[in-house]
Amino acid sequence: MEKITAAITAVGGYVPEYVLTNEELETIVDTTDEWITTRTGIKERRILKGEFGTSHMGIKAVQNLMSKHDLDPADVELLICATTTPDMQFPATANIIAAECGFTNAFSYDISAACSGFLYALTTAAQFIESGKHKKVIVVGGDKMSSIIDYEDRTTCIIFGDGAGAVLLEPSTDGTGIQDSILKSDGNGWVHLHQKAGGSRRPATIETVSNKEHYVYQEGQTVFKFAVTNMADVCEKIMVKNNLRSNDIAWLVPHQANLRIISATADRMQLPPEKVMINIQKFGNTTSGTLPLCLWEWEKQLKKGDNIILAAFGGGFTWGAVYIKWAYNS
Ligand code: UT7
Repeated sequence: MEKITAAITAVGGYVPEYVLTNEELETIVDTTDEWITTRTGIKERRILKGEFGTSHMGIKAVQNLMSKHDLDPADVELLICATTTPDMQFPATANIIAAECGFTNAFSYDISAACSGFLYALTTAAQFIESGKHKKVIVVGGDKMSSIIDYEDRTTCIIFGDGAGAVLLEPSTDGTGIQDSILKSDGNGWVHLHQKAGGSRRPATIETVSNKEHYVYQEGQTVFKFAVTNMADVCEKIMVKNNLRSNDIAWLVPHQANLRIISATADRMQLPPEKVMINIQKFGNTTSGTLPLCLWEWEKQLKKGDNIILAAFGGGFTWGAVYIKWAYNS
């Protein structure tokens, strides 16, 4: 029997219109464009204004995908949404996206793995295709980080932004598609990066709100050290496991958390800058959105057969790498 792999056959993306620049942040917190640029590589990020949730961006990303790819909504069997900022505690944001996109025959659910969410969702979705049971699965990665950011905290508000991307997975038998993935987590890392209140352990009270416990809490330096080591390690591991040398790799698609983390990972993989997708300067860290937004922006440059490594590190801690042989020319 022919081996079935899960191939990405279409990509979509969406970022909100509002651009929050470093210059505007200079008027909000005690920071400078120079500090943000040299420490993170970020110049601006997008912010979703108004009473819209992550689903709003996920729907737009899927609609963008469908505008480029002939897809009957009734044929979609599953939609998985990776997000850390769901519209509501329940139901799943994926349910809302699937309903709005007319996926009447699909089941849908969310995956929560912070910045590695897209890799977790992609790997999970791939199993449904590889089993031979499903033919059309959509994976959305998106976050409205501005909904959990304290715009008085200069250590976090400079990093994060809002955005979402989406990919369609279909079966492939020509050797393209997802080749391998390594996913890791270490729950001991939760203390360094989390949202203190709003969950079952510490539900919302007047006190939690006035203590600002519904925002991202991050010990930046500690997270940075874990991210640099683990993202580079996991990329090296997936290269060795699949007998890939740097020359074999067409693109690194790294999580966009900090330009210094991206550079360290690329250096370890011995990849030149022109093989690394970087849009952190425009969008900042959109958490689950970073990887599909890169694929969306670079789609036209990707060629059938390209070896691509996606890699991420984030809250949990969670991290991982996925090796894809690109399936189409656009
Ligand atoms: O995607 C999820 C995973 N998250 C990450 O991967 C993020 C990892 N961490 C980072 O990217 C970096 O740690 C940050 C960008 C968050 C911070 O950069 P850093 O180089 O680690 O700075 P730091 O925390 O060591 O702070 C250095 C100095 C401090 O001042 P003192 O104590 O040396 O006087 C901070 O108070 O910079 C100060 N500082 C700032 N100054 C101007 C912190 N934030 C700012 C700011 N503007 N926005």
